[in-house]
Amino acid sequence: MANSIPKRIGVLTGGGDCPGLNAVLRSVTKHALQAGIDVRGIEDGFLGLIENRVRQLRYDDVSGILKLGGTILGTSNKANPEKFATGFDEKGEVIWEDVTDRCFKTIEEHGLEALVVLGGDGTMICAQPFAKAGIPVIGVPKTIDNDVLGTELTFGFQSAVEIATEAIDRVHSTAESHGRALVVEVMGRNAGWIALRAGVAGGADVILVPEIPFSIDHVIEKIEWRRKLGRRATIIAIAEGATMVGGEQVVHALDPTSPDPVKLGGIGNMVAKLIDERSPVESRAVTLGHVQRGGSPVANDRVLGTQFGAAATQLLLDGHSNRMVAWVKGRVTHIDISDPAEGQRVIGADDPLVAAARACYVSFGDTSPRDLAEEMTGNGPRGLLR
Ligand code: F6P
Repeated sequence: MANSIPKRIGVLTGGGDCPGLNAVLRSVTKHALQAGIDVRGIEDGFLGLIENRVRQLRYDDVSGILKLGGTILGTSNKANPEKFATGFDEKGEVIWEDVTDRCFKTIEEHGLEALVVLGGDGTMICAQPFAKAGIPVIGVPKTIDNDVLGTELTFGFQSAVEIATEAIDRVHSTAESHGRALVVEVMGRNAGWIALRAGVAGGADVILVPEIPFSIDHVIEKIEWRRKLGRRATIIAIAEGATMVGGEQVVHALDPTSPDPVKLGGIGNMVAKLIDERSPVESRAVTLGHVQRGGSPVANDRVLGTQFGAAATQLLLDGHSNRMVAWVKGRVTHIDISDPAEGQRVIGADDPLVAAARACYVSFGDTSPRDLAEEMTGNGPRGLLR
């Protein structure tokens, strides 16, 4: 049975921020206001529900924010109401508590009849107890990682790709000048989408992603292969979650108070060091880090955010509950909000962009480069060294 149209909704942004959050907030709110729905902004994601920090969102609050980076509501990537760190015990262990009752109190006090949650898989999981309790919840998939299951696109991703592409573009000239191997580490958790897309767009010679474990020997072979062709520089785009064959992800930090405690980072430096040690070529690493999450969203994310936000409010107007807006086959659609909890969307073995990159001599560090001598005798494809 369809739900009745809510008179007042709460909206929050959860998890790590990304460009486009404000575009979605603006769109959700403007569409709701036009339909006569009162909108309340919950501060700092689910933390605002736990701590009862809720404020009204009027037209003026969301006007002019389309191109602003970050989120006007603030966010938190530690506030899972079902598993919330409330302190440390005498042994220094984190004390976890289920504080969903505090959230229900806030929801009741502010008369919130539905929730719109902007976030990644973690946020969709945090929303489950409210959806199960009969509060209509609509999710909007956000993350630079583009790893939310059930949607081919999350907002924020295309902005991160643009930033990473520009960084890769910029290291080409310095790598050429010095004849170096330049390693550019990008974010993405366990998914290599940013590295793959920015690597292809930035003309990287080697792209290393978590989905395809690499061998440092193959990476060095590729550097040498290029040098034999007269190419002094090699550009390597690497995802923070990439691993060597039989190796483990490189952890930059552990945050015990977070339900997602592992912070990846450092594989780029490790690869640069190994190239330095094991080859005659000098190498340097650049880690882009949070630069990828900062600043204004690109046009595509503003448009996607506007479409996603309007669709979220429309789902409530149409009486839907517990759905997540999604981008599938070039259109906005919606899926069950619990679907993203099933896992992460990663690059498939048959990904067409991986194939296109390989077709352009890009190495994924999993095989040796084509044999140059063979290519030059004419038995292989022509064109090299001619
Ligand atoms: O999920 C987005 C993301 O930027 C990941 O790519 C990265 O691993 C992580 O968040 C970093 O988290 P934090 O902002 O907590 O350092």
